[in-house]
Order: sequence, then structure tokens, then C-alpha cells
Amino acid sequence: MSSFSAELINRLTTADSVAVLTGAGISAESGIPTFRDPGGLWEKLKPEELANFDAFMANPQLVQGWYEHRRHVVHDAQPNAGHVALAELERLYEDFTLITQNVDDLHTRAGSRHVVELHGNIMRNYCVSCGRPASEKDVSTASDTGVFVCPCGGLIRPDVVWFGEMLPPGVVEAADAAARRTDVFLSIGTSAIVYPAAALPITARLHGAYVAEVNVRESAITDQLDEVVIGPAGEVLPALLETVLASRRTPRG
Ligand code: OAD
Repeated sequence: MSSFSAELINRLTTADSVAVLTGAGISAESGIPTFRDPGGLWEKLKPEELANFDAFMANPQLVQGWYEHRRHVVHDAQPNAGHVALAELERLYEDFTLITQNVDDLHTRAGSRHVVELHGNIMRNYCVSCGRPASEKDVSTASDTGVFVCPCGGLIRPDVVWFGEMLPPGVVEAADAAARRTDVFLSIGTSAIVYPAAALPITARLHGAYVAEVNVRESAITDQLDEVVIGPAGEVLPALLETVLASRRTPRG
């Protein structure tokens, strides 16, 4: 693990407002595969075959089955030390926004309160015909044709953003506003390839924030940020939290 700078600790110690963007990398140590790393989801499965509305309508059983599998993986996973450290970091600030591209619920389960889910949540489902949220029963009992359907007869889909779809109303605005007003922005475990998420660290920096990245390798935007800490989020974030807590206990002269 590379070390973080005194500047980052100083900024986090004196900040009034902190915003964080997370990607699949923060959940990697919980056993949830990322998308673009070796062995990641998009290596084996093509997004255009699974993660879009036309693919779903063409083969609902295949797409529902894939999401059912991923739901089970998320259900069985536990938040790791990185998620927990972010939940604890949140308690130090009145204004703290955790923006996530992840569709798992591990930040909330770790205790984070102010979470902005950019790409939806895999644990929620709804009917494409009537729009009603699906119940547990709806997504555990397949119809005669092998697909999950709503009592109205419509197909049930996960409440996640697919390729070509708009992000949920309000979330981009909330994330962008947090990026603009924050003093420190942390970009954690994301390849920073998918927009609009990847623009948020840049927006924050343009508006005066100190922007640091935590990743096991450099991302697509590393050279546009103030600092990169190379290492697994589950190790870097607890160490960062401890250092900030120690710095806050040290009287300032
Ligand atoms: P990616 O799979 O593109 O990137 C994961 C990042 O996490 C990479 O930069 C890895 O180096 C890093 N990483 C892996 N293990 C790590 C660890 N233990 N600690 C820290 N970093 C680690 O995932 P995202 O950037 O989240 O969108 O992908 C963005 C979006 O692309 C996803 O939300 C998804 C996908 O298409 C939708 O489904 C709409």
C-alpha cells in the first residue's frame, strides 16, 4: 500500500464537507466481482447481451437468471473494512455524501446514511408493465414459462440502470451538487470510464476540492487528480480513518 500525503490528512481534518465516489473495487474484497478487472463480469459476459432493455425483452429468462445469480452473491456478501471505514468517516462530518456506482447494498449495510445510488440497486425489482415494485415472492417464483412475472402479467426487471438508459431522476443532480460544494473528494475503486460518474472527481477539483483516488492501480483519470493512494480499499480506508482520527485528536496551534 502506498502512503497518503500529509496534505490529504490535513484537508480531511479541517474539511466541513466530504464527498466520496465508489465503484466496484470497494466491494471486490467482499467477494463481488468487478466489471473490467481480469476475471471481471464484462470479460465473460457482454453488456450488450445482458444489460440493456432490448436484450431483456428478447430473452427475459436469461437476463433475469443472471441478475438472480448476482442478487444471491450480494445477499451472501458482507460489507468489508473499506465500507465500514467510510460509514465511520461519515460520522465526522455534517455534510458527507457517498455517491456509489454499485448496485449492491453494502454501503447501507455497513452503516452509511447519506448514499446516492447512481446506477440503482440490484435488490429492488419492478414490473415493466405496471411499474409496481416487485415483492420477494414475485422474484422467487417463476411462471410456467420460466420467467418472473408481476401479478399483472408484466415482466419483472431489476431496478438498475442498463446501457442506453437514463439515470434515476435527481441522482445526477444530487451527486453533482455534492461534488461542487465538497472540500475533499475521494474516488475509490472505480476505473473512471463510465460517465457521468467519472466526471464527478473532475467537477469537484474544478470547484476547489482536494481530490484523491484509492485504487489498486491507476484509473483513466488519475493524472487529473491531486493524489493517488495505491492499495486495496479494505486496507487503505481503515488506515486513512485512523490517521484522520489521530490528527483530529492532536491540538492545533
Ligand atoms: P470497474 O470494474 O470498471 O473498475 C473497478 C476498479 O476497481 C478498477 O479500477 C480496479 O483497479 C479497482 N479495484 C479492484 N479491486 C480493488 C480493491 N480491492 N480496492 C480498490 N480498488 C480496487 O468498475 P466501475 O468503475 O465501478 O455500470 O464500473 C463503472 C460501471 O461500469 C458500473 O457501475 C457498471 C459498469 O458497466 C452499470 O452497470 C450501469
